[in-house]
Amino acid sequence: LTACSGGNSAATPAPADTTAPTDTAAPADTTAPAGFTTVEEGKLHMSTNAAFPPYEMTTDAGGFEGIDVEVAGAIAEKLGLELVVDDMGFDAALTAVQTGQSDIAMAGITVTEERQEVMDFSESYATGIQVVIVKEDSPIETVDDLANADMIGCQKATTGYIYCSDTPENGGYGEDHVTAYETGAVAVQALVNGQVDAVVIDNEPAKAYVAANPSLKILDTEFAVEDYAIALQKGNTGLLEAVNAAMDELKADGTFQTIVDKYITAE
Ligand code: ARG
Repeated sequence: LTACSGGNSAATPAPADTTAPTDTAAPADTTAPAGFTTVEEGKLHMSTNAAFPPYEMTTDAGGFEGIDVEVAGAIAEKLGLELVVDDMGFDAALTAVQTGQSDIAMAGITVTEERQEVMDFSESYATGIQVVIVKEDSPIETVDDLANADMIGCQKATTGYIYCSDTPENGGYGEDHVTAYETGAVAVQALVNGQVDAVVIDNEPAKAYVAANPSLKILDTEFAVEDYAIALQKGNTGLLEAVNAAMDELKADGTFQTIVDKYITAE
């Protein structure tokens, strides 16, 4: 629904005269994306928090890799732009796109109604699941047991934090029972150190952290199922349409799946 054109006055077609079939040049019929400008000419700035494997992480060489990074690079190429990755805190990555300091934010961002009020989203490109990580010998055996946790760790500003810190009436555990950490990795370290009883985080980073920490496990019961999408500044319809069109092409020609398969092995 949000993909409907019309907000962009520059592209507003003349009112259609349905009785005039000769009017074939009317811009109303074109499926080409509306025009757009970017923060920096020739570049596509992507704000992210590169501490979220396998979607975005830093390389030893000081660069960036991951599904979001490569997909954004492929989108930029389709648009004739060069991708620039701007790494910052997750909350800052959202703010940057909201205020127009970056063109897109791509960071395994969950589409929520609250966020939709302050930013626009592309079509969803992945499913994310909020899962619970605990120590192997934890008394927390199901999601329901989280109610007994003294302290839950989350990455700040994430949906995991938002759900868990909500009031018990709204399905949360209250702010007093949740600690917000700068990154998911730091939250997991707090779990290893015994400072929190559980970490609520997205499933793919959870798998990466648990694989690196034999003392941890992921509970079988899931906390929440979500959709990931690319965030754009509200009202940036031209770029939104261009991004969606590029993504459709990357899905159709197999590029998107090739990138996903490079980072996520099918179970
Ligand atoms: N999917 C969650 C959210 O949107 C967490 C995303 C965290 N991403 C990151 N790159 N650290 O809130």
